[in-house]
Amino acid sequence: MIKLALFASGSGSNVENIYEYFKNHNKILVDSVFCNNPNAFVIDRAKNLGIDSILFDHSKSSGIDLLNMLQKRNVSHVILAGYIRLIPEEIIDKFQEKIINIHPSLLPKFGGKGFYGSKVHSSVIESKEEYSGITIHIVNKEYDKGKILFQEKIKINENETPSTLSKRIHELEYFYFPQIIEKFLLDKL
Ligand code: GRF
Repeated sequence: MIKLALFASGSGSNVENIYEYFKNHNKILVDSVFCNNPNAFVIDRAKNLGIDSILFDHSKSSGIDLLNMLQKRNVSHVILAGYIRLIPEEIIDKFQEKIINIHPSLLPKFGGKGFYGSKVHSSVIESKEEYSGITIHIVNKEYDKGKILFQEKIKINENETPSTLSKRIHELEYFYFPQIIEKFLLDKL
């Protein structure tokens, strides 16, 4: 079985969507949610869904501690679904090409440190971009710089606000992210 740990720092709507997609899958299992924010709604979601959640303090847990927790659970791949910190090097080294992130813009535009959540969408709108979209990519040691696996774009509407754009981007994420994870893991991408 391919065992996934989902890392999240906030609401976790993608976590829930990924969990629902894989819940009866015969090859891929959502094992756990790793969360670095004690106030994140994803912790409640995980509880309601019956997924184990592991709360850690990114300023106190070392990369080795986190790596040990992943290995103890026999996690084979890590999915970042709204996780806003850098993944420690020890984990990147052991999980080469096995960590996937989703970013709510068309990378390399509007990516890198500090570009997360509504900041991405307000920057896209302020820059008068014609399109935005999603990028699903492999994670390496830098923010939003790993190999791109998939992108999909949407046209920015007149009168678009960060909140309408966020909603439209989330719809794209719900539709594509689980499918791309599945294809990538099963070597069908
Ligand atoms: C998503 O837009 C994702 O692209 C980004 O963080 C957001 C997480 O949203 N990395 P949610 O917590 O899954 O609702």
